[in-house]
Amino acid sequence: MIPFSPPRIDDRTVKAVEEALRSGWITTGPRTKEFEKRLAAYCGVERVIALNSWTNACELVLRWFGIGPGDEVIVPAYTYCATANIVMHVGAKPVLVDVLDDFTIDPEAVKRAMSPRTKCIIPVDIGGLPARIGEIMKIAEDATGLFTPKLNLRTDGTNPQMRLGRALVLSDAAHSFGARIAGKSVGSQADITGFSFHAVKNLTTAEGGALAFNLPEPFAADELYAFFNTFSLHGQSKDALAKTQPGAWRYDVAFPGYKCNMTDLQAAIGLVELERYDAETLPRRKSICARYHAAFSSDPRFIVPVLRDEQRESSYHLYMLRIAQATEEQRDAIITAIAKHGVSVNVHFIPLPLLSFYKAQGHAIDRFPATYAQYSREVSLPVYFDLSDAQVDEVAAAVKGAVTEVMG
Ligand SMILES: Cc1ncc(COP(=O)(O)O)c(C=O)c1O
Repeated sequence: MIPFSPPRIDDRTVKAVEEALRSGWITTGPRTKEFEKRLAAYCGVERVIALNSWTNACELVLRWFGIGPGDEVIVPAYTYCATANIVMHVGAKPVLVDVLDDFTIDPEAVKRAMSPRTKCIIPVDIGGLPARIGEIMKIAEDATGLFTPKLNLRTDGTNPQMRLGRALVLSDAAHSFGARIAGKSVGSQADITGFSFHAVKNLTTAEGGALAFNLPEPFAADELYAFFNTFSLHGQSKDALAKTQPGAWRYDVAFPGYKCNMTDLQAAIGLVELERYDAETLPRRKSICARYHAAFSSDPRFIVPVLRDEQRESSYHLYMLRIAQATEEQRDAIITAIAKHGVSVNVHFIPLPLLSFYKAQGHAIDRFPATYAQYSREVSLPVYFDLSDAQVDEVAAAVKGAVTEVMG
């Protein structure tokens, strides 16, 4: 069976983790700090903080911005549940909007959904193709008149809603580390960008995530980093590493923070992954996607994903193929038939309105026709470093065979 997305674990990864284990420092420490510096350099921003998942990192962002009951956050209907779940966690309301036929959030739909309660927009770089962040930033900037900041959020002059004066753009870049917009790395366009380093992602730390800060003045990256560092460690004034300095045991807690720091064991994996990302990971993924493109793009039974246009280049995280004429039932039957050919595929994602919880909240899929049209025909094919060209050809043959079996 060709698996869908195994991680690339080799002797280098094992050695790096072993060194971290034997170093005597296994929680947040020198490796995490080094990983953060290298991530920031890669993304072209001053500061990145590494945490234990996209979910916890981005939930912290919503809490830092003071989002809660009565507030709205705009998210695409077509995404993984984490994007909307964090909005529920803070007691705010996810406002779902439709997507374009490249799977990314529709800027016009975002514009229509903006209200005086909108505090944040979360575009999603689904499959690794960046959403139209420039257009979304402009929508947020043009809607300053609509924005109603909470006045009593913080009284020391650091109220982030007052400082920004508009809705925050938090990019869900869980899939798009290494993707590019106008020649620049993802991370340097939205106000804050959240990455995921979950086991199946392009760059993994087993579990993990990071935030890249790109907020305009008067926000300062060092200040934001210091705040999120404390916020992710119980609001404690010193982290474990700082407390190891001779005599520096005393600490304070200024507010009840959360606990979602990255460990040095995770960072050890991340450092290896990052070092070979541009030289090995991305080129191999790109070449696999190009081979799929060659197999499917001239066959009218298929719609191939956008991997690149004038502005954007994908991180080649997922190859989101669509079967042009398939119904949802036929697509499901095709997946079963592909499995019989010995190939694991997947569907990204079941749209939020089709999940019990969000359906019960009153979100109906018929209000998101483009989301359903993409989802119901979608099949994600395997893309990972160790997938050989022969296996890519095997996958393509299995998919074509399965489509013939089901669709005639
Ligand atoms: C689009 C999207 N957003 C967010 C997440 C959550 O990431 P994490 O598992 O690091 O919390 C995922 C994870 O698969 C995702 O696919």
